[in-house]
Amino acid sequence: MLKIPEFEKIYGRPPRWIVAAPGRVNIIGEHTDYNGGFVLPMAIERYAVMAADLSQVSAPRIFIHDSHVGDTAQIDISKPVVKGNPRWSNYVRGVIAGFLDRGVKIPPLDVSLVSTVPLGGGLSSSAALEVSAATLLEAVTGTKIDPVEKALLCQEAEHEFAGVPCGIMDQFVSVMGQKNHLLLLDCRSRQTELVPMNDPSVALLVINTNVKHELSGGEYAHRRAQCETATKILGVPSLRDATAAELECARSKMDLPVFRRARHVIGEIERTLDAAAGIRNANGRSVGQLMYASHYSLRDDYEVSCEALDAVVEISQSIGIEGGVYGCRMTGGGFGGSCVALVRTDAADAITVKMAAGYKTKTGIEAAIFSSRPAAGATVIKG
Ligand code: GLA
Repeated sequence: MLKIPEFEKIYGRPPRWIVAAPGRVNIIGEHTDYNGGFVLPMAIERYAVMAADLSQVSAPRIFIHDSHVGDTAQIDISKPVVKGNPRWSNYVRGVIAGFLDRGVKIPPLDVSLVSTVPLGGGLSSSAALEVSAATLLEAVTGTKIDPVEKALLCQEAEHEFAGVPCGIMDQFVSVMGQKNHLLLLDCRSRQTELVPMNDPSVALLVINTNVKHELSGGEYAHRRAQCETATKILGVPSLRDATAAELECARSKMDLPVFRRARHVIGEIERTLDAAAGIRNANGRSVGQLMYASHYSLRDDYEVSCEALDAVVEISQSIGIEGGVYGCRMTGGGFGGSCVALVRTDAADAITVKMAAGYKTKTGIEAAIFSSRPAAGATVIKG
């Protein structure tokens, strides 16, 4: 689902550039990226799209019209870019600041934006916006940035301008995703491996609980700090370097919550590598079991799930493998947002109907459910 922003309607002339960057869904490997572990996300067919042209006024500013929310932002580029309003503009401001810091000269621009990545759905609408802005600035200025540096620049924007100390997963997959592939990312070495996922008999469903997920609430930073405490006690550079046995030996030296956070991360890193092997071997059952195990660990040890996410997983279990669901788990940071389910393609429609009805009954909320093939990362559509 790619919507082209209505540039001409707003500015009265066609755009010179059009770029798109996708949101993502993480199949497995949650809260492992900032612990030097592995993640296995894919880009989804939902995009933040920007259309632009050089401004016709000489004032040094970037004007952005967001046709989705009907809102506008004006960013002054004659001096160091600072945080401002509206809030969503901070993701773009952060990226502009990253380009200016690297000595890239940016001309005044008129931009129009539309995103089909649901906001607060835990599907990285913010990373899509950052990567879209970075892709636009690359096209406009003719500056090609190395993909790893581009993803890191966007992550920095999120840290500095949105105040979320996120890891590298979302921006990496929005930049580097490939059609019909999952991205196995080693977050310590930053090396990536494309894992083909083109078996037509399995599909992925994204179930957006419509309970908004909000990462700047402090819980995310708190989990990160607890992981750091565990690494200090264990005397390792990151939780990637610790084994379950070593953690068990150190159990008495740490608070129970810290121990449980570390137990999740260490187990999740192993599950992620096992799941990548399961995808390579087209073993839906084994991947599905790993997804359920991941969810329970996030719910019980990492404590980042919520009633709505748990309800989706319970319904998946009750539909079961007989009904075509291999596995299901919460995806992304947690506290709301979406679940991802691995299902049999021929049962996907029936599962969607059962899931929507079961979720409404359990929670009183309408879920938004869609299927997506692994999509390509950021692209220049025009220009
Ligand atoms: C958010 C962050 C990511 C990652 C996930 C949890 O999406 O932006 O870097 O930490 O949470 O896996």
